[in-house]
Amino acid sequence: MSETVLLVGGGGREHAMARALADSPESDEFDLYACAGNRNPGIARLAEGFEILDTSDTEAVVDYAEEIGATLAVIGPEKPLAEGVVDALEDAGVYAFGPKQADAQIEVDKSFQRDFMAENDVPGCPDYAVFDDMDEACAYIDEYDGDLAVKPAGLTGGKGVRVTGDQITKEEAKEYLQAEEYDRVVLEERLVGEEFTVQAFVANGDVLIMPAVQDHKRAYEGDEGPNTGGMGSYTDASFQLPFMTEMDSFEAMEVIKATVDALDDYRGILYGQFMLTADGVKVVEFNARFGDPEAMNVMPILETDFFEVLTAARDGDRLPELDFAEQATVCKYAVPAGYPTDPQAGTKVKVDEDSAGDALLYYASVDERDDGIYTTTSRAFAVVGVADTIADAEEIAEDALAVAGEDGLHIRHDIGKADLVQRRIDHMADLRDE
Ligand code: AMP
Ligand code: GLY
Repeated sequence: MSETVLLVGGGGREHAMARALADSPESDEFDLYACAGNRNPGIARLAEGFEILDTSDTEAVVDYAEEIGATLAVIGPEKPLAEGVVDALEDAGVYAFGPKQADAQIEVDKSFQRDFMAENDVPGCPDYAVFDDMDEACAYIDEYDGDLAVKPAGLTGGKGVRVTGDQITKEEAKEYLQAEEYDRVVLEERLVGEEFTVQAFVANGDVLIMPAVQDHKRAYEGDEGPNTGGMGSYTDASFQLPFMTEMDSFEAMEVIKATVDALDDYRGILYGQFMLTADGVKVVEFNARFGDPEAMNVMPILETDFFEVLTAARDGDRLPELDFAEQATVCKYAVPAGYPTDPQAGTKVKVDEDSAGDALLYYASVDERDDGIYTTTSRAFAVVGVADTIADAEEIAEDALAVAGEDGLHIRHDIGKADLVQRRIDHMADLRDE
């Protein structure tokens, strides 16, 4: 049977997913279609059809899936998952790889996430409290002995969290809560350590773990400035990052497995954001999807056929064993100058998939016009180097960025550089010695 695969989403993450599908040894067996709110030129070139639609509008996604005769769908971003696109597609007879609306709550509602961990004894849950009344939340901040992370319960694109003793003072945290008028917030102990991401393919009782990735959330070099959706990320050639031990990876894996066990029928990608602390691995959050940028690190080194993973998930089969090339990856995003506070759109993107050299180029939020591709106000494109070492992968990424130039763009050049990687190793060693 010939298949029709619908990819939902138009960011760098989805471009990496589209590329993995296009590289499938079975790519003759299926046609790839995509839909997103923006036209991603990289995905559009790999797909038979590309429809611009609001992917949070489940009816619009279902209509398009029916129009193209989709036999399988795969969902990239969180918003359609939060809106129940998987349930809606299933009602229309189309299997979608991604969690149903109820299971996506693990990402969508941070208070659900923490209560779920506490109720199911999932290891790694920090001390936390949930508030609907901001006056009570402010009183808690005053009374709490130590620093806190202040987290709006709903989706904020990674930009709503404020950490006292790091970005802001306790007084500023209270002002933030009074000013923003959130319906619900989670206040939790500030975790100190090094962050890392572990993602897993989950379906039919199988949980297949991918290599650990470290993203860089802060906008500016040296981990300064406001939080962003993620400025870039790296993996090492092993399953761990250089500041981690195998035991740390194992602990993270156990958390993911315990979570899947407690969420009866979870399917799709489960993403764990962890803080490696002096007391072991703690959970910063879960996401119900691939990370962006983290997907761009793991998809290029995934040697298992992504299409086979998706069809096995749909058909109720065991998932194929995952193989990854033992190579390091460094991903750097180019974002518009001024991002995220005052992003300036309209810069022409000078690098393309051919001129990127040995690097992979993934488009995110760009505007394709007759005379070229231009930036918008969100992350524009990413380059990824793949090599035996982090240092070599970093150089490959930088060579491609040299072609792109700096005009109207902002890039964290420090990501994957030896200095920053070493700083993380030293930071963890210091914490473990204390
Ligand atoms: P989240 O949206 O939950 O991923 O949070 C965004 C960022 O805030 C995380 O990547 C962390 O850097 C930081 N963060 C969240 N929770 C905590 C915590 N409990 N302690 C320290 N930092 C945190
Ligand atoms: N890289 C963080 C995220 O995808 O949420």
